[in-house]
Amino acid sequence: MTPTTVIRPLDVEDLETIVGIEQQAHAYPWKKSIHLSCIEQGYPSLVLEQDRAITAYVVFNYLYDECHLMNITTKPSLQGRGYASQLIQTLYQHSALAGMSSVLLEVRESNHPALSFYAKEGFEKIGHRPDYYPKGLDREGAVVMRRSLSDFLLS
Ligand SMILES: CC(C)(COP(=O)(O)OP(=O)(O)OC[C@H]1O[C@@H](n2cnc3c(N)ncnc32)[C@H](O)[C@@H]1OP(=O)(O)O)[C@@H](O)C(=O)NCCC(=O)NCCS
Repeated sequence: MTPTTVIRPLDVEDLETIVGIEQQAHAYPWKKSIHLSCIEQGYPSLVLEQDRAITAYVVFNYLYDECHLMNITTKPSLQGRGYASQLIQTLYQHSALAGMSSVLLEVRESNHPALSFYAKEGFEKIGHRPDYYPKGLDREGAVVMRRSLSDFLLS
């Protein structure tokens, strides 16, 4: 049978599953309390389900006319199959409908897979924040990236 892909809002009932994926996928995972806080604040975050199992999620929020993308993650065993691409396309559509004109994010400067992913998605580097993230006993910088939604805006 053809697998069914569904993209839907992230719900509080997804919390344990996404925290599990978060811990597998990130060297510096978000704590459960951060994910819970994003849900409680009503962020319009999304999950991608493949045959009813969560494969990827994206946490984001709207501020003025900017969508701030805070976390996009695909389950490690299912990376490289286009799930994050599908999810971010839906984020663009929802953001444009909500009146956003661009998507902004920060990413660790050592996170080469994510940097490649965002570059392929049309994000451009617009800044650098030194020592933005903790890294062991040290710190590391963030690359600030932006993608215009002009190609998604309604006429
Ligand atoms: C970044 C991430 C979300 C990409 O998810 P994914 O579902 O594997 O991505 P896709 O399969 O949709 O990849 C789309 C494109 O991104 C790029 N890309 C994705 N993973 C890559 C990797 N490991 N190395 C280089 N490029 C990569 C490629 O250009 C790819 O296109 P291609 O398949 O035609 O080559 C995933 O690697 C991940 O969850 N990483 C850990 C969490 C993280 O660091 N998130 C970002 C910061 S919050």
